[in-house]
Amino acid sequence: MPIPQNTLPVPRHLAVIMDGNGRWAARRKRPRMIGHRAGARAVNTCIDFCLEHGIGALTLFAFSSENWGRPEEEVGALMKLFLNALEREVDELHRRGVRVRFIGERHRFSTSILERMQHAETLTAGNTRLHLSIAASYGGRQDIAMAARALAEDVAAGRLRPEDIDEATFGTRVALSDLPPPDLFIRTGGDTRISNFLLWQLAYTELWFTETLWPELDADTLRQAIAAYASRERRFGLTGDQVAGLATHIPPEAAAR
Ligand code: IPE
Ligand code: IPE
Ligand code: MG
Repeated sequence: MPIPQNTLPVPRHLAVIMDGNGRWAARRKRPRMIGHRAGARAVNTCIDFCLEHGIGALTLFAFSSENWGRPEEEVGALMKLFLNALEREVDELHRRGVRVRFIGERHRFSTSILERMQHAETLTAGNTRLHLSIAASYGGRQDIAMAARALAEDVAAGRLRPEDIDEATFGTRVALSDLPPPDLFIRTGGDTRISNFLLWQLAYTELWFTETLWPELDADTLRQAIAAYASRERRFGLTGDQVAGLATHIPPEAAAR
């Protein structure tokens, strides 16, 4: 009997909340920004891990819609760090076959950042080894609200009938609709919440939390997460017997994952 893809030990799509930079710095009696800088290095650890382990899609929560409300100094410093990272890393990502894109409200960024984002997306558009999505100025509720607006516009323009709106059509309008939904979600920093990350997309994602602060992330921690994921039984609302033995009972949506 073929094993449904959704039970494979390696996630096809990993979604990560990179949290704990500020606390990492505070423990060292350093400014929060030092933590963010150290956090930027941990991003490479995570990307390397995905490339080595054949994880095809990685989505990183870098900056939330709500993070704009942080002190001006921190937001300004984060923007500078973001711009520097774009300038420094994109060529190497391209060389390694990584496709980069950004999800979130990008009109809130400065022109210089917008241009670098656009450049990164265009340069790497043809890459297929790893699909890296950076959620920046992103909020899950905002994502869902924008999908609803897009559908409403289609209805108003006569392109869509209200009765044609269902989970499938809605799902094509939220971010990352061209990727399988995340199989595994990781949050570092010890807090066990989703903080307005991919609310729609995480419906059946396996969640894994660690006390490790983001700047301390290493391959060992990621291996632990993958091992935990591999030991889980994903049931998608079915019974354990169904998912264990009867692949024909896997709903088409789950089987396609
Ligand atoms: C995550 O680290 C990075 C961003 C939200 C930009 P934090 O800055 O939230 O770090 P803590 O949670 O305060 O330690
Ligand atoms: C979530 O972390 C957002 C990012 C990591 C970018 P936060 O630090 O903003 O989340 P809360 O405030 O602890 O929920
Ligand atoms: Mg935090």
